[in-house]
Amino acid sequence: MDTQAIISHIESKKQQYIDELFELLKIPSVSADPEHKDDVRKAAEFVKARMLEAGCDLAELVETKGHPIVYGEKMIDPALPTVVVYGHYDVQPADPIDLWETPPFDPEIRDGKIYARGSCDDKGQMYMHIKSLQAMNETGSLLCNVKFMVEGEEEVGSDNLETFVRENEAKLKGDVILISDTSILANEYPSITVGLRGLSYMEVEVTGPNRDLHSGVYGGAVANPINVLAGMIASLIDEKGRITIPGFYDKVAELSTEDRVALNSAPFDLAEYKADLGLNEVAGEEGFTTLEREGIRPTLDVNGIWGGYSGAGAKTVLPAKAHAKISMRLVPNQVSGEITELFTRHIKKIAPPTVSIKVTAHHGGEPTITKTDSIAYQAASHAFEEAWGKTPIPMRDGGSIPIVALFKEVLKTDVVLLGFGLNSDAIHSPNEHYGVFNFMKGIETITLFYKHFASLIK
Ligand code: BES
Ligand code: MN
Ligand code: MN
Repeated sequence: MDTQAIISHIESKKQQYIDELFELLKIPSVSADPEHKDDVRKAAEFVKARMLEAGCDLAELVETKGHPIVYGEKMIDPALPTVVVYGHYDVQPADPIDLWETPPFDPEIRDGKIYARGSCDDKGQMYMHIKSLQAMNETGSLLCNVKFMVEGEEEVGSDNLETFVRENEAKLKGDVILISDTSILANEYPSITVGLRGLSYMEVEVTGPNRDLHSGVYGGAVANPINVLAGMIASLIDEKGRITIPGFYDKVAELSTEDRVALNSAPFDLAEYKADLGLNEVAGEEGFTTLEREGIRPTLDVNGIWGGYSGAGAKTVLPAKAHAKISMRLVPNQVSGEITELFTRHIKKIAPPTVSIKVTAHHGGEPTITKTDSIAYQAASHAFEEAWGKTPIPMRDGGSIPIVALFKEVLKTDVVLLGFGLNSDAIHSPNEHYGVFNFMKGIETITLFYKHFASLIK
């Protein structure tokens, strides 16, 4: 592989790559919203067509009970190593729409950044892999077989991908699973994600009286479900920032002092962090730093809470029901199903007899740790060194990609989380963006990964 030639080739295609990504970003493939079902399929078709253009000998939509999976492959020689690429073409809903400076599905570059829903998570990052394959193919420098598995349901829990993976173990056989769906510390401090948190996502419904009541006529004599729910939620975290659900911490792996020191040696500026988020002070579990709170400690957060009257003006009402969506981020060796159980039992236990409670579990996922002593990690590290001029720092990310644990369990293949986003890219938020620099550098790094992987695995 003539590295310089291929990098110049990638550079020369910059405008074309961006134009194509814009086309993909214009398709509102919001997996959670049934109204966008056809758009999700349209995005899948687009990805399939680009895979074929990039040189795949096969690309197909795999139908599922939900949105289709795009599977593609380029097999050059069964004796060569095989890279399996995972990504997702679905995106989060764009709401709240009015907070976007430009429309979420009408991409625009401002200040070197591509603004659009999915620009970073994960269309932009997934697309880098297709362009990398194309560049290697066009310059005759492809050194590995490639398999793509790009799903349309990551943002809603990857339920159908799980079935696909379990049923297609042989088809998905490879030497590494490469995923660009995470972030780096900063462009000055590239990093490789070596841990992701798991998730238990719950919904609680509290019911009081059998109908909404006049809050004057009945107030003070009948329990208000919103008051009750608020009190219950408040009791879930104590004054030390610890979650009060019995057994919650039982399986949490404590890091050695050495590992904690290493984790905290990553460049991190608390003042900058606070300024970026407009905070006077950070919060969290006592005795842990912000990096630890995000990377190696479990959490409990209310994602939404509703009930009663929240329209214009004031309505005096004692509502019949109150609701909350509550997520818990999990760390090794917590188990999502077990935490779901503990949460359900505890909520039911602390509910006063004045109300009735319904607890429902939404999707979950297991936490994962990826290896740093694998050939694949070494190849990724070398790729960063060559492309960025710096050795990447191994980092734990706070987000979740539930399917990663399943890849390890079922496919037993090493996973490398080769992400290029920044925490400030506002994924899932209004004005999501992705740096053109990161997009282009990502394509370059991925391409160099293939080179180093092929030479190290021999
Ligand atoms: N790409 C993210 C996960 C992520 C983001 C990991 C940043 C590390 C750093 C992924 O698309 C995502 O949003 N996952 C969801 C979980 C899913 C079950 C909805 C999450 O983390 O909330
Ligand atoms: Mn993602
Ligand atoms: Mn996401």
